[in-house]
Amino acid sequence: MRPRFTPFSSHLELAERYWSEIINSNSFVVDMTAGNGHDTLKLAQRKPARLVAIDIQPSSIEKTKEKVKDFPAEVLIRDHSLYPDELDDETVTLAVYNLGYLPGGDKTLTTLTKTTLISLNKMLDKLQKGGALSIMCYPGHEEGALEENAILEWASQLSKEKWMVVHTRFMNRKDSPSYLWIAKAL
Ligand SMILES: C[S@@+](CC[C@H](N)C(=O)[O-])C[C@H]1O[C@@H](n2cnc3c(N)ncnc32)[C@H](O)[C@@H]1O
Repeated sequence: MRPRFTPFSSHLELAERYWSEIINSNSFVVDMTAGNGHDTLKLAQRKPARLVAIDIQPSSIEKTKEKVKDFPAEVLIRDHSLYPDELDDETVTLAVYNLGYLPGGDKTLTTLTKTTLISLNKMLDKLQKGGALSIMCYPGHEEGALEENAILEWASQLSKEKWMVVHTRFMNRKDSPSYLWIAKAL
């Protein structure tokens, strides 16, 4: 059994803990991979001022809308490599990326290294000071491993004056999901 110690949390538990530290009633939160809406619901329950959830799959939009029907969330069909263009600079408190393919869905509809990096890069400008990117990576499938490598390479080169970058993974579990938190300096 795992001891109750924050660094030993799963990537999903860790994400929720970090979200709880940053979201308040003034926050603008964007779920960039709505999927089945599980993350969107957890974000909505924290009652940010504004919550937008996007996905490219129509079925994900329907599922997410149903999940958050009791909350004032906007659920939109969008490509996350383009969506940041609709946002003003320095307005987003938290942008959440739960990468890979939808569990139980079409595994070919996975997030892709190229478009994920375009989206992440664009979101840097959209974050408020103190705002953050929350990124869950899944290196257990081919595109997921490429995507994680490329994101870690990109993130490790961000200016240390402007960005704080933390990466967590279970080192002794092959292909375990990993969690990346990138925060903009104040
Ligand atoms: C791992 S799932 C997300 C799980 C979800 N957060 C949840 O709680 O159920 C990844 C999602 O990313 C979506 N996706 C893939 N490429 C995308 C893109 N370019 N723009 C927006 N969504 C994308 C997929 O359709 C899929 O639903």
